[in-house]
Amino acid sequence: MDTAIDTGIDWAQVRADFPLLTRQVHGKPLVYFDSANTGQKPECVIDATNDFYRRHNANVSRAVHALGSEATDAYEGARSKLARFFNVRSDELILCSGTTFAINLVAYSWALPRLQPGDVILISRMEHHANIVPWQLVAQRTGATIKVAELLPDGALDLNALYAQMTADVKLLALTHVSNVLGTVNPVTYICKEARKRGIVTVIDGSQAAPHMPVDIAAIGCDFYAVTGHKMSGPTGTGVLWAKREHIQAMPPFLGGGEMIKEVRFEGTVFNEGPHKFEAGTPNIAGFVGLGAAVDYLSSLGMAHIEAREQALLAHLTDALHSIDGLHIYGRAPRKAAVVSFAIDGVHSHDLATLLDLEGIAVRSGQHCAHPLLQWLGVGTTCRASLAFYNTHAEIDAFVAALHKVRKLLV
Ligand code: ALA
Repeated sequence: MDTAIDTGIDWAQVRADFPLLTRQVHGKPLVYFDSANTGQKPECVIDATNDFYRRHNANVSRAVHALGSEATDAYEGARSKLARFFNVRSDELILCSGTTFAINLVAYSWALPRLQPGDVILISRMEHHANIVPWQLVAQRTGATIKVAELLPDGALDLNALYAQMTADVKLLALTHVSNVLGTVNPVTYICKEARKRGIVTVIDGSQAAPHMPVDIAAIGCDFYAVTGHKMSGPTGTGVLWAKREHIQAMPPFLGGGEMIKEVRFEGTVFNEGPHKFEAGTPNIAGFVGLGAAVDYLSSLGMAHIEAREQALLAHLTDALHSIDGLHIYGRAPRKAAVVSFAIDGVHSHDLATLLDLEGIAVRSGQHCAHPLLQWLGVGTTCRASLAFYNTHAEIDAFVAALHKVRKLLV
């Protein structure tokens, strides 16, 4: 089954690219079902990062010596690879530490100078805290208010309600592409089109989308798209903010320091242009070299193939979970990614996750950095199994067998 699905890819061979997946935990083979939290890394990403430190390490854009040029080429090369991967121009891609930084950058550089009392920031019920709290901070400082787009019972966005909420006072819509708890895939292309008609600026949190499906930012038609590298097989501390060129030109810098300037005098500073205006300080150079290798790797598999593979795994997992008495799945939207949040009657999710860990199975439990969504679900906490293309049907079967076992111990 794992080696012969219609993508034509030998997924067992692909799994073998991930050294960590061969390890044991508590004497059991590791079943890693926490990829929405962070993704595992293929050998080529680990090698690219190591190779940078072993053979090319120097700072970027600051030295004329050979290593300085190699480091700059490697770093800018990664920017070009990311631009191709997301179908955007590289001079519109700001390299940063991750989605949290990216959204804060938009909040502080775009929203803070522009919003005023009476303006509305529209977000949704399913946002991660990183797409809620920055807007609350902006609202506190500008007098703008936050409105929340609600969900249908299956966890899909209520699009009719959302469009009705896009009134003239809404200046910004901040929305996740894929929910990290429900797996819901939002139709961001349509939503951004509606927003554009109304002159609303759109910020899309692509953290949980970019690792799992083709993402063509140009086709989505948003104003800003934020991505985190460590969920897409890249190193931690890497991320990307794509911004429309008009915003890159108009926004003031977020952080001041080296690299983001052209000329500094005590009387005043001339800022750098393009994405470099927002890249103060020494970046995570080796991390971006690794992320460049990660997008090469993902591209070699094909994001459409990865999506198909993960949808097959999701179908198998969802089906298999029906055999567990008292288990409830949260998030049943027609279009969802391979994220399954669940609870079992009478069992605390932390107890469940702890006992699963003893079986070698890694799931996340708790509120998943999405307190308002968990409140809406009416459940204190959930367990979450989040899959990636390197998981297998056999792992799902082992997971479901372990659930049967630990449920008996806990209920
Ligand atoms: N790391 C966060 C999660 O687990 C985003 O969903």
